[in-house]
Amino acid sequence: MAVPASVKKKVQNLRREIRYHNHRYHVLDDPEVPDAEYDRLMRDLQDLEKAHPSLITPDSPTQRVGAQPVSAFGTVEHKLPMLSLDNAFTEDELNDFHRRVIDRLDIAVDSQIEYAAEPKLDGAAVSLLYEKGQLVRGATRGDGTKGEDITHNVRTIPAVPLSLMGKGFPRVLEIRGEVFMPLAGFERFNTEALAKGDKALVNPRNAAAGSLRQLDPRLTAARPLDMYVYSVGIVDGGKLPDRHSEILSVLEDWGMKVCPERRVVTGIDGCLEYYRRIGEKRSALGYDIDGVVYKVDRLDYQRDLGFVSRAPRWAIAHKFPAQEELTTVRDVEFQVGRTGAVTPVARLEPVFVGGVTVSNATLHNMDELNRKDVRIGDTVVIRRAGDVIPEVVRVIKERRPKRTRKVKAPAHCPVCGSDVVRIEGEAVARCSGGLFCAAQRAEALKHFVSRRALDVDGLGSKLIEQLVALERVKNPADLYTLTREELISLERMGEKSADNLLASIERSKQTTLARFLFGLGIREVGEATAASLATYFGKLSPIMEASEEELQAVPDVGPVVATRIRSFFDEAHNREIIQALLDSGFSWEETEPAAISTNGPLTGKVFVLTGTLEGITRDEAKDRIQALGGKVTGSVSKKTDYVVYGEKAGSKLAKAQKLDIATLDQNEFEKFLSDQ
Ligand code: IVH
Repeated sequence: MAVPASVKKKVQNLRREIRYHNHRYHVLDDPEVPDAEYDRLMRDLQDLEKAHPSLITPDSPTQRVGAQPVSAFGTVEHKLPMLSLDNAFTEDELNDFHRRVIDRLDIAVDSQIEYAAEPKLDGAAVSLLYEKGQLVRGATRGDGTKGEDITHNVRTIPAVPLSLMGKGFPRVLEIRGEVFMPLAGFERFNTEALAKGDKALVNPRNAAAGSLRQLDPRLTAARPLDMYVYSVGIVDGGKLPDRHSEILSVLEDWGMKVCPERRVVTGIDGCLEYYRRIGEKRSALGYDIDGVVYKVDRLDYQRDLGFVSRAPRWAIAHKFPAQEELTTVRDVEFQVGRTGAVTPVARLEPVFVGGVTVSNATLHNMDELNRKDVRIGDTVVIRRAGDVIPEVVRVIKERRPKRTRKVKAPAHCPVCGSDVVRIEGEAVARCSGGLFCAAQRAEALKHFVSRRALDVDGLGSKLIEQLVALERVKNPADLYTLTREELISLERMGEKSADNLLASIERSKQTTLARFLFGLGIREVGEATAASLATYFGKLSPIMEASEEELQAVPDVGPVVATRIRSFFDEAHNREIIQALLDSGFSWEETEPAAISTNGPLTGKVFVLTGTLEGITRDEAKDRIQALGGKVTGSVSKKTDYVVYGEKAGSKLAKAQKLDIATLDQNEFEKFLSDQ
């Protein structure tokens, strides 16, 4: 039966629309419509295809998971081998690479080579073959010349377009990149797997590689995979730009996802600056990387440089120090934190990991310890990611010695001897000693003087522990009664350090209400909540007197936090300490209450933030807008009043311009806020 032209047209339109939204959601990370709308379009298409099966094509969005399981993987030959990269672990090694590039190209030593710099993604390399814009094959890297055919699996990855967008692409285009599992998806997948009694995935890299090697594409489809593309292979019947960075840009135009962190940098200094910057951002990226890659940007230079065995001479991976290492557990002890949380900590055979020597690693809590089945004597994998506290990831059971010791949860606080209690449903066990417990006291003090709180320079952990052990300092207010003589009489304290310390203690009194509140260490009151409270009330005393209902009017403050704040200030002991601090001369600028959500100057105004703002994080910008009553949302629509944009702003800015929405660059934004 012939399908009416109107139905064909409708099917085509639906596909076009679904592809558009797919790209917005999975590639640009910038959905335009709610999920329900997308689901509706998809259902409409499915219904039409069901009624007219002859219309189904392999590139239809309904066909992502359509393929039948395979019984074995076919072999794919890489006509252009998929190369690997040489590594540089040190600055010297990077310098050697740069020098070789310059020597080989026979260009002046001071000539500034441009490198395309990208994060080195920790996933699995994949080749995607597009013919006339249609995805016809997906393959693993394999040994570089022969890989496995995983077409049925790559088709299920939402970031992989089944057909290229736009026009101008070569007739045959092989695109290469890295498939990876974002950390949030990895965590979510594992939580769900464990809840169902399934095995957890070991790490995101294995998870990505393993997911691609499933015979049944439905299993791959259930794994949260993503992909950034980073190069091309075979190109036939068309031309690409003559710079690597520009090739990535056209791939992006054709609907492929490229890493937003990519930059073009100049010379060795540019490389090092990029390495440092990505290193700092690493823990916030949301996916694992193990270094950065620099590629000579000009393709004519790349051609001149050529290859050595399996790696190009025009590219190098600059690796971060290893984040995971093996070592053995010497002992497990229990540490008491500021809120009394009793945390098992593994004492380790020291090991160099993530750039430092690690001899302690957290085991989080007893449930975690038992789940991982960590015993004293075990060989374990230690992970240190960025500035995060090192943790024990897992035990290498194969290396378990005959005699190991199991770890028992303590019934009493190892510091003050009070009972350790664990509330039903909570993972954390706590010392019930409160401020009677020297450990809790010391931790509370460390928090009070920490950089983001009152920022007392020169008052380190050891010194605080000493002062607490001497019972000279029991609470923050006691710090402000310390004398020069007392300090000098302490171990390892010279006159100069004592004077410096006294000066920074004195300086800390001049602060902000937000820092003061944060420093008090009220449970559940982090930096952002402290800042919200400070903005909302403007002064300390109304916060101390506010009812739970009043507190809940503050953005960020829900019933649990409100109760915590109320009970903190109801405690006579806490009020005494606050009074003593105020008496010692604390001061900050008081402001008028900014009744945030109800009648701020920006009440009713909707903001969208896009791109990278300099010197201010998105959260900070958001806090400032909210403090004035404004609302911040994720996508631009007719309801948006202002789009604030920073460097590398993309489609959101374009859309704002299209919809004639007011846009503010960073300077204009700062001025705008201060005008309110
Ligand atoms: S370029 C000739 N760029 O690293 C260029 N590779 O050690 C070859 N990788 O097999 C690849 N991120 O799986 C390139 N931004 C990136 C990369 C990257 C991760 C992987 C890739 C490759 C391995 C080489």
